[in-house]
Amino acid sequence: MNNIDVLLGLQWGDEGKGKVVDYLTPQYDIIARFNGGPNAGHTLEFNGVKHVLRTIPSGICHEDKTNVIGNGVLIEPNIFMQEIKDLETKGFTPRKNLLISRKANLILPSHRLTDAANEKSKGDRKIGSTLKGIGPAYTDKIARTGLRIGDLFAGDFEEKYNKLKESHIRHIKSLGYNVDEFKIEEKSFEEYEKLWLESAKNLKTLSVIDTEYYINDQLRKGKKILAEGAQGTMLDIDFGSYPFVTSSTTVTAGVCSGLGIAPQNIGRVYGIVKAYCTRVGQGPFPTELFDSIGDKLCENGHEFGSVTGRRRRCGWLDMPALKYACMIDGVTDLMLMKIDVMDDFPSIKICTQYEINGEKTEHLPFSLEEKLTPVFKEYEGWQQNVTNIKRFEDLPEQMQKYISAIEEMTGLPVTMVSVSPDREDTIVRNK
Ligand code: GDP
Ligand code: IMO
Ligand code: MG
Repeated sequence: MNNIDVLLGLQWGDEGKGKVVDYLTPQYDIIARFNGGPNAGHTLEFNGVKHVLRTIPSGICHEDKTNVIGNGVLIEPNIFMQEIKDLETKGFTPRKNLLISRKANLILPSHRLTDAANEKSKGDRKIGSTLKGIGPAYTDKIARTGLRIGDLFAGDFEEKYNKLKESHIRHIKSLGYNVDEFKIEEKSFEEYEKLWLESAKNLKTLSVIDTEYYINDQLRKGKKILAEGAQGTMLDIDFGSYPFVTSSTTVTAGVCSGLGIAPQNIGRVYGIVKAYCTRVGQGPFPTELFDSIGDKLCENGHEFGSVTGRRRRCGWLDMPALKYACMIDGVTDLMLMKIDVMDDFPSIKICTQYEINGEKTEHLPFSLEEKLTPVFKEYEGWQQNVTNIKRFEDLPEQMQKYISAIEEMTGLPVTMVSVSPDREDTIVRNK
C-alpha cells in the first residue's frame, strides 16, 4: 500500500500552498483536501492567469488528475457551485475530475448569520473570521447536530434543515440581535437562502461518494495521493494561537480524521513556509512589524487576502513558532515561499527566541498573548532580483546563507524555493 504525502502551511495561512500543490500535481494521481472550507483562498498562477480556489483542491486545473473533497471539509453550496461555474467558464472540467465525500458537513446560510452575530457580540475580542460560517458549522458537527452532504439526498432534509436553522435563529436572538441586522454577501437572509437551496440541489448532480473507501482503495492500487491542507499550523484549533484560530485540525493529524487515513500511511510532509510571516484577522503575532519594513513586505508581497481583500499583517520569520509547527506536523521537507519579496532589503531578521519575564526561551507560551519580546538575529540582504533564477546554485550567496540558517535552526532541508507567483518560477533542490 502506498503512503499519502501531505502538504500544509506552517504559519498563519496564505503561505503559498495553492502554488506548490499545482506545481506538484503532475507527480500525483489524486489531490485531496482534508480540512477547512471556503475560508481558504489558494492561488495558482500559470500562463499569465491567476486562479483562486476555495473548497476545491488545487490540482483541479490538471484534467487527468482526480480531486477529492474529504469528510473533514465544510461545503457551502452557494460558494461551491460558484467555484464550479468559474472553473467551467475558464475551460476546466471540474464535474469530470472531482469527488465529494458524503460525510462532509454543510455550511447553512444560518451558520453564516451565526458567525456574524458571534463576531459582533465579541466586540474587541472578535476573531476576525472570514464570515463563511466555519466556526458555527464545525460547532454543530462536534455537537452532533450538523447536516452532511449525504443528508441532501434524504427525504427529510427540509425538516432537518428548518430545525437547525431555527436553532441558529434562537441563538442569534439570545445574543440580542435580529436576523435582519445581518447580510450575507450583501443579500438579505431570505434572498441568500433561496439561492443556497437551489445550489444545494445542483450540488447533488456532482459525484458524491464514500471518499474514505475510495482513497484507501487507490492507495492499495499503488496510486500516488497528495493531501492539501488549508489555513496553517498556527491557526489550528488545538495548537494555534487559541482562541484566535480557525475551528479545524490544520495539522498533519487532520489528514487521518479528515480523509480516513491510518497514521502509518502518512508519507512525506511538505511544510510550506513564507520567508517572513503574515497574519490576517485578529490575534497575537509576536514578530509583527508596525513600521515601514512591515509596509514594504505588504507592498512587495501584495499581502492582501485572496478572498476577503483584507490587508495581511506582516513581520519577520518566527523561528520558535516554525520549529513548533515542524514538530507538531512531523515535517520532512520545507518549501520556502516568496523569498523574492525581500529582494531589495538591505538586511533581514529572524526571531530566534522570545524573551518572557527577562528569560530567553524557544518554548511557545500557553498563550501567545503573553507579553513577550522577540530576540532577533540579523542577516545581510542580497539586494538583487532573483525571479528569473532557475538553479539553487545561482541564487545570491546572501540568500543561500539565509536559507542555510533556516535549515540549521529547523534541522530540515529546504527542498523548494519559490521566487514568484508563477508556476514556472520554482527552484527544486534534491537533498
Ligand atoms: P495559500 O492560501 O497558502 O494557497 O496562499 P494564498 O494564495 O492565499 O497567498 C499566497 C500569495 O502569494 C498568492 O497571491 C500567490 O500568488 C503569491 N505567491 C506564491 N508564491 C509566491 C512567490 O514565491 N513569490 C511571490 N512574490 N508571490 C508568491
Ligand atoms: P488559507 O487556506 C489565512 C483566519 C481568519 C481568522 C481566523 C478564523 O488560504 O491559508 P474562520 O473564518 O476560519 O473562522 O477565521 O482564521 N483564516 C485564514 N487566514 N489563510 C486562510 O486560509 C485562513 N482561513 C482562516 O482570518 O483570523
Ligand atoms: Mg490563502
